[in-house]
Formats: sequence, structure tokens, C-alpha cells
Amino acid sequence: MAETKKKMKIVVSLDLGPEVMPLLYNRDDLEIIAWPHASSSGKEWLVKNIAGADGCIIMLFEKIDDEVLDAAGPNLKVVSTMSVGYDHVDLKALAKRGVRLGNTPDVLTESVADSSVMLALMAGRNTKEGTNLVEKGQWPGWSWSPYGLCGPQISPNSPADIRTVGFIGFGRIAQATLARMIGFGYTRCLYVARSKDPARAADIEQTIKARHPTLTTVKRVELDELARESDVVYILAPGGSETYHIVDEKFLKQMKKTAVLVNNARGTLVDSDALAKALKEGWLWGAGLDVVEGEPNITADHPLVKEPRCVMIPHIGSATWESRIGMATMSVNNLFAGLERQPMVSEVQL
Ligand code: DGY
Repeated sequence: MAETKKKMKIVVSLDLGPEVMPLLYNRDDLEIIAWPHASSSGKEWLVKNIAGADGCIIMLFEKIDDEVLDAAGPNLKVVSTMSVGYDHVDLKALAKRGVRLGNTPDVLTESVADSSVMLALMAGRNTKEGTNLVEKGQWPGWSWSPYGLCGPQISPNSPADIRTVGFIGFGRIAQATLARMIGFGYTRCLYVARSKDPARAADIEQTIKARHPTLTTVKRVELDELARESDVVYILAPGGSETYHIVDEKFLKQMKKTAVLVNNARGTLVDSDALAKALKEGWLWGAGLDVVEGEPNITADHPLVKEPRCVMIPHIGSATWESRIGMATMSVNNLFAGLERQPMVSEVQL
């Protein structure tokens, strides 16, 4: 009599939708335990359900640490996060158990670059105040007065108007955002990167200049210079302890009064209290945030929600059908590769 092979147990902490869940359900060698909602399952559900699992798919609100991994036990081969960022995963805890980690870059590069530029435009042009008035039925008679609701222009107004875009983090999404800013007429690009290797910087700068011949400057700088010189600062670096509050009071105090700050990375990179103070006191012009420390528990009395020149959207920088279906599919393919001990589409080196 043929022996029936034990199914591999897979825990999925989010509903990946009708396009992607069948990839899992169609495999008869897998037992799927899935949280049935699109929102995060939360850690408690995960800990309760993960015992004996061979693999799991998670999202960025679930912390993967010793507690979850101990609850999973020794069968666990792969954790697959439906996100490019992985600051919610304890890499050391995975490494010591030999568990592999997959993530989902590339398929969200264009959507996050789009939303980064959108946030810069929104923060520069008083859209929060303007739309608030319109929604309250208070279309202001004074808005088309000579200087009603004016803000600094994001695009240079003439070739003599030289603008600088600054990036904290200069990976794929930052470079895609730069391409858009060049379309707006920016000719100077400064960036802060983790690597201090001059040869690496020279290589990046040469590649970027060859790709964008209208750029006069591409330069890796220290944070202070980036703060002082940039007209728009984009934060597009990974979260975690290395970048915690990289934008603090000192940084904000050095920014141009007309500059705009965009955070499309992780909330932990910005000191929220310092930013609220900076906006109130006019150290910079405005901020556009897709992420904020403490999300999703952000209430109407949060100091940044109350700031008229702080535009906030609820972590939807990658929320296009194209990106999200791509991310969900990649997370499943990474899981399969992990189970089969094959190379993943994208694997985080532990
Ligand atoms: C990620 O995937 O890490 C991002 O936060 C997407 O918006």
C-alpha cells in the first residue's frame, strides 16, 4: 500500500487575495492555515497557530522573534515577508535556527517612487489645508488672492534656478524617485548611504551620471550637508537600529525653510516630536509622510496629524494593484523556494 506523505504546514498571516491564494491552495502537499482577513493577524494568532509549521508568510506588522520561532519549532525552514523592508524580523534569531528569509523588492519600486513624489508635491503646495477647507464646505473666497495658500514651487522656475534633491538611502526606490525629479528639472543630487567606501560611491556616481546626463552633481555627503543643501529630502532607507531617528532636531534645524521632507521608508527614521516642533516653528516648509512611528495606532490628536503642513497617508506608498499582486506572488514563490531548498526570487542574506 502506498504511503501517504505528510503535508507541509504553512501559516499565512494575511489574506493574499483571490489572484494569489490559489497558488497555495492548489498544492495538495501543503496544509494551509491562513488568517482570513486582509489586515494583520497580529502576533498572538501567529504564535498560537505556528507550532510545527514548515514555512510562513507574514506582513510587516508581525514581529518575528525568538517567541514566534520557539513556538514554531524545528520544522520551520522559511519565513517569507510580503514587504521589501524586514526590520520587523530578528535576523540573528533566524540565522541561529538556520531559517531562511525572503522579501519582495523591485515590484514596488515604481509605485513607491510615484508616491514619494506625490507626497513632496502635496506637502509643498498646502494640499492638506486646501482640501480640508473644501471638504468642510468652506471653499475659501481668498484662496485665489495673490498669495492665498501659496507654497514653494517644487520644480525650478528657470534653468538658472538650480535645485537639489537629497536622499537618505540611495537604493532602487531612491534612484527611481531621482529619475522623476530629473523630469522636474533637478540637476543636483546628494545622498547619504550606509557604505562609506569611496570606490563604491565613485562607482554609483558614475553609473547615475551616465544614466542621467543632465545631472551636474551626484555626491555622497554627510547628513549635515544634505540637510543644509536639499530643497526636497526623501527618506528611503531601511528601518532598524542603525537609522533610528536619523532625522532628529539637529537635522531639521539645518534644513532650508522652504524645503520639504518626505518619509516613505519607516516611521522610526524620524523623531516625530522634533518634526512637529520643526513644522510649528517653520524650520522647514512641509512634510509628506507615508509612515510614522507608532503606526497603525495614530489618532487625530497626534501632533503630526494636527500640523497643517504635514500631509499623512496610511502606509500606502506601494498600494497599486501592480505592486501588491507582484509582492504577494513573490512572497509565495519565495516560500516555495525555501521549502524546496531552491534559490529564492529575493532572499535576505542573514
Ligand atoms: C515595504 O514593503 O516594506 C513597504 O513598507 C511597502 O510599502
